[in-house]
Amino acid sequence: MNILVTGGAGYIGSHTCVALLEAGHSVIIADNLCNSKRETVETIMQITNKEVTFYEVDVTNSEAVDVLFRNHKIDGVIHFAGLKAVGESVEKPLDYYYNNIVSTMVLAKACLTYSVNKFVFSSSATVYGDNEVPFVETMRLLPTTNPYGETKAMCERILTDIAKANPSFSVSLLRYFNPVGAHESGLIGEAPNGIPNNLMPYVTQVAKGKLEKLRVFGNDYPTADGTGVRDYIHVLDLAEGHVVALEKLTEGVHVYNLGTGQGTSVLELVKAFEEANGIEVPYEIVARRAGDIASFYADASKAKRELGWSAKRDIIAMCRDSWRFESNNKTEGF
Ligand code: NAD
Ligand code: WQD
Repeated sequence: MNILVTGGAGYIGSHTCVALLEAGHSVIIADNLCNSKRETVETIMQITNKEVTFYEVDVTNSEAVDVLFRNHKIDGVIHFAGLKAVGESVEKPLDYYYNNIVSTMVLAKACLTYSVNKFVFSSSATVYGDNEVPFVETMRLLPTTNPYGETKAMCERILTDIAKANPSFSVSLLRYFNPVGAHESGLIGEAPNGIPNNLMPYVTQVAKGKLEKLRVFGNDYPTADGTGVRDYIHVLDLAEGHVVALEKLTEGVHVYNLGTGQGTSVLELVKAFEEANGIEVPYEIVARRAGDIASFYADASKAKRELGWSAKRDIIAMCRDSWRFESNNKTEGF
């Protein structure tokens, strides 16, 4: 298939492009590079030894998107492009609502115009809000605590309504849990700008000596060791999940959790990182971070049952591969 991958130069998008190319699909990337670099497109080609077509475009721009659909016979769209920083979304709600929702509507409209019937959307476990764990796809979604989470819930609803009114338009809503890790080559991975908000990139930067120590946000949660529990998933498992979701997409709207089903606490992750890489990660316990939930992880059984997909890589592999990428990463003075 010819797949349009929006946000394909980004963290999850780049790994998914590699997985798509390795599975024999052709890839057209549309990315405005607001949170990624053009070189990543070259690196995807280097890893796979295959060609990729790249457009530097903003996918909220309907004229630019129309050109893509006119120039290529597209069989399916994977829509990763979006703004994703939770804290920033509270500061700049309009940017988040505009970028994430308008891009989804512009792409869906182009799909209807050009009879492109397969649409895979990057959603997030954040749409479950503070539900009971494990999170199951059938749960009623609860309000999230930030505009970013609301954009994901709204896009899910918009795509669901479009699919209802256009029965040949098939949609897969993929709810990711906490993606970490990097390609085994160490050539692509997560390279956040400035001080990372997420745990794993913070840990790798402490390990590298770029940051002094990890601040563990609270050890008084009702979890086994008191620290927050999450379902970390290797980005390559996530990437493979997209390929299967696209290949097996049938009419209607399908919702899948992409997680491992396994919870890991902050201190367990630190220990796994130290064990995997033989590097000490200094940390201190500080106050809870506002908006954090104590614990969440996926019920990952639906994706296994319906798609035959489950995550294969364990927390040690996630820590090893995250570190390999960070130690290769020459950005920001290193
Ligand atoms: P990322 O920032 O690395 O990748 C997003 C890419 O989209 C970037 O390359 C950026 O330049 C591009 N982009 C943003 N707005 C665009 C626009 N209007 N037009 C064209 N390109 C645009 O983020 P990621 O971690 O790879 O996330 C990919 C998707 O998955 C996002 O939609 C994100 O919300 C979602 N998601 C991420 C996580 C996570 O923890 N990383 C979890 C759940 C869901
Ligand atoms: C994980 C755990 C923290 C940093 C966020 C978004 C979510 C999704 C993924 C997109 C928590 C603790 C963290 C640190 C710490 N993104 N922590 N010290 O908050 O589960 O999810 O990213 O959809 O929407 O909210 O991920 O990596 O920030 O935190 O102790 O410096 O690590 O408290 O328990 P989170 P995270």
